[in-house]
Amino acid sequence: MRKNIVAGNWKMNLDYQEGISLFSEIINMVRDERKGDQIAVICSPFIHINSLVQLSSGVVKIGAQNCHQNESGAYTGEISAKMISSTGAEYVIIGHSERRQYFAESNAVLAEKTNIALKHNLKPIFCIGETLDERENGSYFHVIEKQLEEGLFHLSPEQFAHVILAYEPVWAIGTGLTATPEQAQDIHAFIRNKVDVKYGFNIADDTSILYGGSCNPKNAEELFAQKDIDGGLIGGASLKSRDFVDIVKTFN
Ligand code: G3P
Repeated sequence: MRKNIVAGNWKMNLDYQEGISLFSEIINMVRDERKGDQIAVICSPFIHINSLVQLSSGVVKIGAQNCHQNESGAYTGEISAKMISSTGAEYVIIGHSERRQYFAESNAVLAEKTNIALKHNLKPIFCIGETLDERENGSYFHVIEKQLEEGLFHLSPEQFAHVILAYEPVWAIGTGLTATPEQAQDIHAFIRNKVDVKYGFNIADDTSILYGGSCNPKNAEELFAQKDIDGGLIGGASLKSRDFVDIVKTFN
């Protein structure tokens, strides 16, 4: 069953106390103001995860922003999917464009990260999207198709059913330059069609495809009204409790 999901990506922000304070505000507002069955998720830095799981008692789901592709071992500074899952977190962002850019994460590595996340019962929020150059030179459909094929399409239908997709045009991330609802819907429909061709109508129809890239309370309604947009992956606006919860309430 396709779910409406609004996931906040705090990125590398908020010290421990700041994160706890913000999350406490979010929890109270979601508990009091959410009217629909939409799912709210916060993907925090690792330092907060365990505390947020304890604080939340399920009102808001918790996720990580990355995991290593190996089970365990000599990878100083890394965090494994098993460690994340052991905290009670349920989601993990994989393949965010900032990790692809700054940490050279290839589609092949992201496929491995997806495998191990699923092995440890985490729901991958798998990010795809084109750069400004790729948008301007018209190669964006090819880029997105390649990210899907090399990152995810090795999965069995049963495995893929646990994946959430996030289309994040890189040129819209943190820029205030949001994709128009029509631009976003075009790509979301393209993505859903690719999933349909690969896994069939039912899995494609059940897959949640989120939009990310300068989504905020002002543009969320028009974006989420699009047929193939099932929610958002929210950066900057998730650092303000009122803004984040107003985006969650778009689905009320
Ligand atoms: O992962 C979500 C993020 O990349 C979007 O950032 O600040 O444009 O909402 P922002």
